[in-house]
Amino acid sequence: MQIRSLLSLAAAVALAAPAAARAQAVEKLVKRGAYLVRLGGCNDCHTPWKLDPKRGPVPDMSRMLSGHSSDGPDPAGKVVPPDIGIIGPTFTSFAMPFGIVYAPNLTPDRETGIGAWSEKVFIQSMRTGRHLGGARNRPILPPMPWQSLSEAEEGDLKAMFAYLKSIPPIRNKVPEHKVPPEVIAQMKAAADQAPAAH
Ligand code: HEC
Repeated sequence: MQIRSLLSLAAAVALAAPAAARAQAVEKLVKRGAYLVRLGGCNDCHTPWKLDPKRGPVPDMSRMLSGHSSDGPDPAGKVVPPDIGIIGPTFTSFAMPFGIVYAPNLTPDRETGIGAWSEKVFIQSMRTGRHLGGARNRPILPPMPWQSLSEAEEGDLKAMFAYLKSIPPIRNKVPEHKVPPEVIAQMKAAADQAPAAH
């Protein structure tokens, strides 16, 4: 073998080794993220449920983490005190005394999911409880349990995000929340004044 081809072989090996190690590290991160997303119950609210005749209500995994469907149903009932919430037929719409909130699409579709989100945006939104992680943005509304996620270790949040970016993208434009702007403004003012209690 000529010196030159030996050299280029050595260069190829040197390049391939870190790439393989990187791919392995990403695979490990995604696997841990999958575990954490299952453990965190994200499918409970972010995957539309269907009624299985034998098993009862179950998340429809063919629409995994795609959020409340664009044409999905609202809860039929009205919230009457002392109840504070009614969950809609697909477990992705939530009627509360102040309005109706929908679970967003967490798949990596660029336009309707989190495909255009950076890891920083995801981590900041979970840490701060503000929409898209912006310090002056509106608070993330209930029942999203961001308070629990805000305590997650950095590596765990990175793993969850890596997993969410790896799942099949589903195009589904989740409707806007039906919450009056003045209610959002009031919640924002309260959050600006004091961070949400855990
Ligand atoms: C009890 C229901 C529920 C569970 C469980 C839940 N979510 Fe949510 N999530 C919601 C709702 C409702 C919203 C919409 C909140 C809003 O727009 O203010 C939301 C919003 C989000 C957002 C968007 C935040 C933003 O900046 O607007 C992300 C990201 C998210 N959830 C990730 C997760 C992950 C990851 C898990 C699992 C660890 C999870 N959610 C579990 C109901 C839930």
